[in-house]
Amino acid sequence: MVEFSRRSVALSASALMALCACGEGEQTPGEVAEEGVESVTFHRDLRPVLEARCNGCHDGSGITPDALDFRDPVQVQALAPVITAAVVGRTMPPWQASGGCNEYKDDLSLSASEIATFVDWEAEGLKLGDPADFVMPDLRPSELGAERLPSEPTLTIRSASPYTPDKSRPDDFRCFAVDPGFEADRFLQGFEVEVDNVSVLHHIVVFAVPGDEETGQLLAELEAEDETPGYSCFGDSRTNVETLAAVWAPGGEKTAFPPGTGLRISKGARFVMQMHYNLSQGGDGQDNSGIKLWFAPEDSPPAREAEMVFIGNLPFEIPSGVNGGTSQSCEGVYALLDDTSMPLTEGINEENLEDPSEIGSGGCVQQDFLYTLTGAEPVEAHAVFPHMHLKGTHIRAEFVPLEIDGEHSRPAPGAEVCLLDTDRWDFDWQRFYWFQQPVKAPVRGSVRLTCRYDTRGASEAVSLGEGSGDEMCLVLLFLTGTR
Ligand code: HEC
Repeated sequence: MVEFSRRSVALSASALMALCACGEGEQTPGEVAEEGVESVTFHRDLRPVLEARCNGCHDGSGITPDALDFRDPVQVQALAPVITAAVVGRTMPPWQASGGCNEYKDDLSLSASEIATFVDWEAEGLKLGDPADFVMPDLRPSELGAERLPSEPTLTIRSASPYTPDKSRPDDFRCFAVDPGFEADRFLQGFEVEVDNVSVLHHIVVFAVPGDEETGQLLAELEAEDETPGYSCFGDSRTNVETLAAVWAPGGEKTAFPPGTGLRISKGARFVMQMHYNLSQGGDGQDNSGIKLWFAPEDSPPAREAEMVFIGNLPFEIPSGVNGGTSQSCEGVYALLDDTSMPLTEGINEENLEDPSEIGSGGCVQQDFLYTLTGAEPVEAHAVFPHMHLKGTHIRAEFVPLEIDGEHSRPAPGAEVCLLDTDRWDFDWQRFYWFQQPVKAPVRGSVRLTCRYDTRGASEAVSLGEGSGDEMCLVLLFLTGTR
């Protein structure tokens, strides 16, 4: 905020100068000299920010529509109001985590002074300045550890045949099942997306699904629903899921899981690639994008087995016409964390359970998942993946240690450890947030989720479900032991 006011002083000073037609270098009476503050120019001030923070995607290489190539100053001038609105509203760069909650690898968000540069450039008349003033900034290398992965993946998965997204709708969600043919359990250690048709592909979520006969049967039925490859799916895979394996959105980097860890993909498991095709940007043609996957060698499993634990999705019902914005208080419900895959189980305090169907009337739902760690070693979280659908606006995930209150254990007020907080949920930009430092789970604790929704555009009540008109309140945590 400081930057905004400093600039507006400078601006009013120059406006005054113009009015009084004072000579260059002369001080306007009553104004404190703003030494060294010159108006913002494209080449000296804005272009370095664009290069460092935007042009990884907006460089004309196809990740963004051609009309959004920011290397051309005239184009940037023409788009200035849209660009400023996007950075001030923080819809761009695409990064939903709010500051002050936790710190993440490859944080895309802009600092206040970077945002001020956009605002001031526009306010001061979109001056281009001298191209010789441009200094290329140091580009930050990805912090996701991709250099630890060999250049060649263990395997690449993709749909057996290309798919042409359905142009009759703005968004087409399509799932493709792929059998990697694993004859033993394998440990996934990283992934990278191989984009085929960037003009239509917006997003990929990859699930590993069980290799049992029942799931095989279901996948065959889904595949047979229509003539074209794959099957229609929104938000999930429409099957049981063993684990989430990978997530990608435009600009997404090659990702290595934390050193020495791996995610078990069991023998016989299949992958389901959920592709989100966005047709509203004028994209066209077929797509056959693939995902490169890196696994630990069969004979040397990783030291620490990671688990992707799904937490959330207790039933709730939100009436239509409500906005759960920040001021609404949340209706809470307790449940036991029912996940047998991690030592995060052993239930306590079943008497705290309320009827979940009665929560959500204010457009806000708070769910506390109580657990006691039963394993010998402490557990830590390395990443969080939040998930809601189209009416979600805010989601917050916290670890809260439990305190004993009479006969009950309850989340201790004021002891929350924030994992993720967003006040601008965007279904189109779902991703993992990898912590700079892993976060230890309290031994007796709660995973608390707070989800807010805006149902003012809905014609009927919105409840938990898989459809695009339904909602979810869910996070996945990438957990390991600490040794
Ligand atoms: C991780 C990739 C990525 C980065 C980094 C990024 N953008 Fe974008 N941006 C996109 C994509 C992709 C679109 C196309 C629309 C969509 O897919 O949502 C887009 C769309 C836009 C739009 C069009 C309208 C809108 O608001 O969606 C503007 C303006 C924009 N970006 C500005 C910026 C600016 C300014 C920066 C840097 C400060 C930036 N973007 C950084 C990927 C990125």
